[in-house]
Amino acid sequence: MKEIVKVENLWKEIEGRWILKDVSFEVYEGEIFSIIGGSGSGKTSITKHIVGLWKPTRGKVFVFGKDISKLSPIELDDLRKNIGYVFQESALFDSLKVWENVGFYFLEHTKMSKEEVRRLALDKLRLVNLEEEVLDLMPSELSGGMRKRVSIARAIATDPKLIIYDEPTSGLDPITSRVIDRLIVSLREKTKTTAIVVTHDMMSAFSISDRIMVLRKGEVVDMGTPEEILRSKDPFVKEFVSEVRELLVGQDKAP
Ligand SMILES: Nc1ncnc2c1ncn2[C@@H]1O[C@H](COP(=O)(O)OP(=O)(O)O)[C@@H](O)[C@H]1O
Ligand SMILES: [Mg+2]
Repeated sequence: MKEIVKVENLWKEIEGRWILKDVSFEVYEGEIFSIIGGSGSGKTSITKHIVGLWKPTRGKVFVFGKDISKLSPIELDDLRKNIGYVFQESALFDSLKVWENVGFYFLEHTKMSKEEVRRLALDKLRLVNLEEEVLDLMPSELSGGMRKRVSIARAIATDPKLIIYDEPTSGLDPITSRVIDRLIVSLREKTKTTAIVVTHDMMSAFSISDRIMVLRKGEVVDMGTPEEILRSKDPFVKEFVSEVRELLVGQDKAP
């Protein structure tokens, strides 16, 4: 299987504190790979290395086979064009309409006409189950779930090979959270894009992931399929998954 991301013994020191300690993992093409862990465990920090915003203090990070520490600014731009990033707070531009948010990259970086960008935005919005009537709305007119969908449409606008979702269900009610979960899975089917999902939503991680990595205070404590994680012997992981175990028993998924 082709490796899209390979993290090798990554250590990160910030202000005299080690926030990532010997983190290693691979993400394979087409996979949905989740990183779960409590607040401050280092989940977002890992993604900052993958998009080349941060450089490892020690260790290596390869994305699409390239060492991110060795990329020129132009290569880094190219890398980022191939990664869609869905920010935790949706991070839409409040003063821009929905279609301008989704088509932002093309309005800024290409000579495409407004009509073309609008059409492209609509194509992407349809992939996240939104329709024409949202094109001219302002972000403030959208519900939390719709904002999230628009920010996903923006992230996939450039047809990235990898999409990173940072806490895609945080701040959403349980029903909307499951809608976003199903959307992440359906987008993988439709676009064949590899996905990394950072979350502390256990239900979400267990229902959408091919593999899960459990992080605690900057260290990897376990990694495997949802079934493997549910059977983990690690006391921390056991406690962490206890909240979903009962819910999953109801769905005949728990061992
Ligand atoms: N820019 C920064 N400067 C200093 N410390 C940071 C910075 N970013 C993150 N940290 C620290 O690194 C740790 C991991 O943060 P983060 O990766 O954001 O965790 P998570 O996404 O799992 O909640 C936290 O203790 C956080 O305070
Ligand atoms: Mg975070």
